[in-house]
Amino acid sequence: MKALVLSGGTGTRLRPFTYSMPKQLIPIAGKPVLRHVLENIRDIGVTDIGIVVGAPDRHIAAALGDGADLGVRLTYLRQEQPLGLAHCVALGREFLGADDFVLYLGDTMLPEGIGALAAEFAARRPAAQLVVQKVPDPRRFGVAELDADRAVVRVTEKPDRPRSDLALVGVYFFTAAVHRAVAATGPGRRGEREITDAVQWLITAGAEVRAGEYGGYWRDTGRVEDVLACNRKLLEGLRPSVSGTVDAASRLTGPVVIEAGARVTGSRIAGPALVGAGTVVEDSRVGPYTSLGHGCELRRAGLEDSIALDGVTIHGVGGLSGSLIGRAARIGPGAGRHRLVVGDDTRIEVAA
Ligand code: DAU
Repeated sequence: MKALVLSGGTGTRLRPFTYSMPKQLIPIAGKPVLRHVLENIRDIGVTDIGIVVGAPDRHIAAALGDGADLGVRLTYLRQEQPLGLAHCVALGREFLGADDFVLYLGDTMLPEGIGALAAEFAARRPAAQLVVQKVPDPRRFGVAELDADRAVVRVTEKPDRPRSDLALVGVYFFTAAVHRAVAATGPGRRGEREITDAVQWLITAGAEVRAGEYGGYWRDTGRVEDVLACNRKLLEGLRPSVSGTVDAASRLTGPVVIEAGARVTGSRIAGPALVGAGTVVEDSRVGPYTSLGHGCELRRAGLEDSIALDGVTIHGVGGLSGSLIGRAARIGPGAGRHRLVVGDDTRIEVAA
């Protein structure tokens, strides 16, 4: 069995971050989403992984290399334009050959893993096995309708009026039968080649398409709110460890990780919280539910329920909450006034 991970796309809902990095590299609990994805795939015993990346993207290859440190072998497949999920499968046709494969959307967080789903697929080997979860508002997802025997009778991409509450989680198991379906279906109403259309083609052609319901935690990390929610969830499982230095005037409560080379002085860190390697925290309050990247610098700062990426500097500003702060951003006090130097599509909310 192989895997095809999709890490192209435009990430418009995560601007401004996605102007300079693919959304799949946003860190959740200190680790890029894509690493969480690859670990889940490795954990079901699949090591031969094709990864679709967007045209101008060198970041993913720089972050993951050939996958050896994760114990997998990565083959990069370049997609010049984000023409849809089925287009990605067509791109992967040669890499996938006649093998079964799991198609895994690179922004999908399933911290409890996909072991049971993979076993279900291996036991029965339908042409396609979708992963679904009940959601209150399925309109921003693919939606599956099942019969009493859990066979899928219809799938629709982002319907205005959903006929079921079962959303497609971004993981699909396929046999090579899907390639005919992909070849036979063109762009849908959004102008993209949708994998849901290829799955519907299989259903109409009489192939067996099944659905496994996923009861665990699932987030599509396409929006800031989802990224922060997922960060909170993963930090809850943090195993405390202190590799950096913490002075006697500092207090750590709850599960806290202080990575190597980090230095905490005169501060309060309320777990769950993660202080990345080489980060300096001085006279500050951090946490709960906060992760700081590598090489950040916080002095007289206060930050909770937030993620700071690598190299962030916060001096003399407290009360920050629910924030996602991009690489090397600098936040500091103004001389009696607010002064903003912010990029395109940035969002700022100040306490009135
Ligand atoms: O999150 C689950 C949903 O994911 C499903 O319910 C939908 O049926 C499915 O179509 C998909 O919808 P999204 O709108 O969330 O897909 P998105 O455009 O965000 O793309 C998903 C991933 O695939 C993301 O990591 C980017 C990547 N991608 C996307 C496109 C369109 C590519 O690599 N190439 C592409 O052409």
